[in-house]
Amino acid sequence: MAYSHFFITFFIFFLFETLVRASPIARREELPAPVVQVLSLPSSSIEDESLLTSNLTTIASAISNNSVSAEDASAAYISVLDAVVAGTDPSSIEKAISLAAAALAQATPPNIISYAAELKLKGTTSDTELQKRRPGGIDSYLNNNKKNPSATIYPKKSSTDAPYSVPEASLRAALYIPSSFKYGANGKVPVILVPGTAVSAGSSFENNLSPLLASSSFADPLWVNIPGTSLGDVQISAEYVAYAINYISSICGSRKVAVVTWSQGSLNTQWGLKYWPSTRDAVSDFVALSPDFHGSMTADILCPLLGLFGCTPSVMQQRYNSKFIATLRGKGGDSAFVPTTTVYSGTDEVVQPQRGKTASGYIQDSRSIGVSNNYVQDLCPGQVAGKTVLHGGILYNALAWALIEDALTHDGPGKTSRLSLSKVCKQAAAPGLTAVDVIATHGSTNINAALNILMYVIKGKKEPSMKAYAI
Ligand SMILES: *[C@@H]1O[C@H](CO)[C@@H](O)[C@H](O)[C@H]1NC(C)=O
Ligand SMILES: *[C@@H]1O[C@H](CO)[C@@H](O)[C@H](O)[C@H]1NC(C)=O
Repeated sequence: MAYSHFFITFFIFFLFETLVRASPIARREELPAPVVQVLSLPSSSIEDESLLTSNLTTIASAISNNSVSAEDASAAYISVLDAVVAGTDPSSIEKAISLAAAALAQATPPNIISYAAELKLKGTTSDTELQKRRPGGIDSYLNNNKKNPSATIYPKKSSTDAPYSVPEASLRAALYIPSSFKYGANGKVPVILVPGTAVSAGSSFENNLSPLLASSSFADPLWVNIPGTSLGDVQISAEYVAYAINYISSICGSRKVAVVTWSQGSLNTQWGLKYWPSTRDAVSDFVALSPDFHGSMTADILCPLLGLFGCTPSVMQQRYNSKFIATLRGKGGDSAFVPTTTVYSGTDEVVQPQRGKTASGYIQDSRSIGVSNNYVQDLCPGQVAGKTVLHGGILYNALAWALIEDALTHDGPGKTSRLSLSKVCKQAAAPGLTAVDVIATHGSTNINAALNILMYVIKGKKEPSMKAYAI
């Protein structure tokens, strides 16, 4: 059955994806020179499928037979990604979506690096990540945010808050506030965008939610560029979100903010809400797209396969049975602290299980705060918005966007009962987005993730220990 085959392909891919998601932040230039003889690196451009596959397969087999160092393998992969000639842009949103799925299905061997290379070959040019990471760029975590909060939020806003380990200057500098941001003066809700594993917020959202929110009548977006692209300890990444909530709320006249997250950004946020209780009063809505509140089941299998690469801290923590996940979910952490809207897809190639009530993305409501869990295949069965929605596809998904708007313009979580599902489910992407936005969403997130994982230096097999405040 085509669907099963597709799903298995995703599942296998996920194993590698988890591996790949694990590496962040050394600069490309710091990597040692590759061992050219062993790996027959591309000396010229790669313009066709068979050359790409043979280059990638050669590197993978050198890794699996242990004949190459992690540094050389990373450098070889990066040179292949660089050598791939970008294809032409797809002509329609439907073609962009099927192109991304085809790139995933053809990724050989099935890992995030092959997927990124296939995406580039088939048609996306979003590989200028180093520019965006520079100070001033949309991925910068060295921003100069001069406004001071109106009340004390650091070292603690409330005595019940956990202690921060990151200096305030670093927490504040990670916030990218666009020059168009109005600090609540336009009556729009400030929206903090929080990215997932291995990609900065700027690159994650620039082709989808940033422009959609910025041109909306109800929202004013900004984002958190977590240093190390969220590949380090999730407990540390969560500090950036907790601080962001209290800081943005304070400098916007103490008004409530919304937090919209992708993937691991949802874990960072839930952890922040749990251990920094002062943040709960400052949040009107938490909208989690493709969240993994229960981690991902395939991570355990993935780690031994990583071989030379090992896992990064946040990947180890996102295993289904990790200490981190158990701690997060314990003592009511599997239930909402603020009105929470989740949107997730069963065809997610990164997070599994992601289906119905046992989905990793499903959040409970034991405190009756107000929750809506939205499984796209249930809500838009057989229709474009509920068919093949990949991990990155949720970022431009029409149902996800409709729920964001609904949540942010009503009290409590987003509700599909207020939407015209028959209309929304037929939309291939949120209104206003183009085919280029769609393919650039996949290209930008996957190519950046591949590069960040390859460049991440500190890899290992051990999960970081839990902070004292969480024990
Ligand atoms: C890698 O691609 C290059 C094209 O630049 C090609 O010349 C080379 O033979 C390929 N290497 C392998 C091992 O396939
Ligand atoms: C390991 O794989 C590489 C790349 O395919 C190959 O060149 C090399 O001969 C292999 N080494 C062994 C010991 O199998």
